[in-house]
Amino acid sequence: MSTTPDFHSGINQGVAPVTYGQGERPPRGDYAQARADYTCDQNWAAYTPAEHDLYRRLYERQAAQLPGLACDEFVASVQHLGAPSQIPRFDALSEKLHRATRWQVVAVPGLIPEEAFFALLAQRRFPVTGWIRRPEEFDYVVEPDVFHDLFGHVPLLFNPMFADYMQAYGAGGLKASRLESCEYLARLYWYTVEFGLIATPAGLRAYGAGILSSAGELRHSVTSPCPQRLGFDLERIMRTRYKIDSYQTTYFVIDSFRQLFEATAPDFTPIYARVAQQGQLAAEERLPSDRVY
Ligand code: PHE
Ligand code: FE
Repeated sequence: MSTTPDFHSGINQGVAPVTYGQGERPPRGDYAQARADYTCDQNWAAYTPAEHDLYRRLYERQAAQLPGLACDEFVASVQHLGAPSQIPRFDALSEKLHRATRWQVVAVPGLIPEEAFFALLAQRRFPVTGWIRRPEEFDYVVEPDVFHDLFGHVPLLFNPMFADYMQAYGAGGLKASRLESCEYLARLYWYTVEFGLIATPAGLRAYGAGILSSAGELRHSVTSPCPQRLGFDLERIMRTRYKIDSYQTTYFVIDSFRQLFEATAPDFTPIYARVAQQGQLAAEERLPSDRVY
């Protein structure tokens, strides 16, 4: 290994690690290997047979639950991840994805700063964590790993309307940073990209990655009588706090990906200003104006 930093290519200089929550736990990925935009090499050859096997078991458990719970667009695209016997190679997957919607997947060491995340999405590059959870985290992992990022997020990037929404979100994030409104925009991501439900003629279905990659929440979100399911309402979502350590108490339901794209197309600048004036809402709150499913 060279000890001379390579300033010209901009690689291997390392970036500051990003940790979850209060940052008590050390980061798992190697941020020293990341480029300035936080992307790194997947280093596919370094996965062990046990890690490939863990991926396969995660995949098979989730795939078995999809019928009747995941939206058709997700089910139609999950096959693009390839055979579940191995963790996919990001470069091969990127080629397929690029042909479909001009998106790519890029490896990152783990969580990355908001601005770096928005910048990648705006360039139609989806950051996927390189590492996989430990076997004892089979049922629950706090931080997103390669299984959550790939299985949860990548199938819908094959859908043209959703793919455009994700790029718009990235561009919107760069703007929200300038307006110091990332907190409101993050709620939109949470209640759509991560925990969104969609109404279909066959009933409610999940499209959010946090639900689709979760062993227990997929069925809970669609069928449990406990959580409230409310019609999509942009400003309502921006006001609503969320739980990061339990199943959601509220899910928001879209009618179509077109509705999602069109409802989020207007300039958010005045919306952020309005939301800042209104009170924040607890995750489980119910308003008279809520459209309840
Ligand atoms: N229309 C938003 C804005 O002006 C951008 C955006 C689009 C944000 C889609 C999220 C999702 O800020
Ligand atoms: Fe996610």
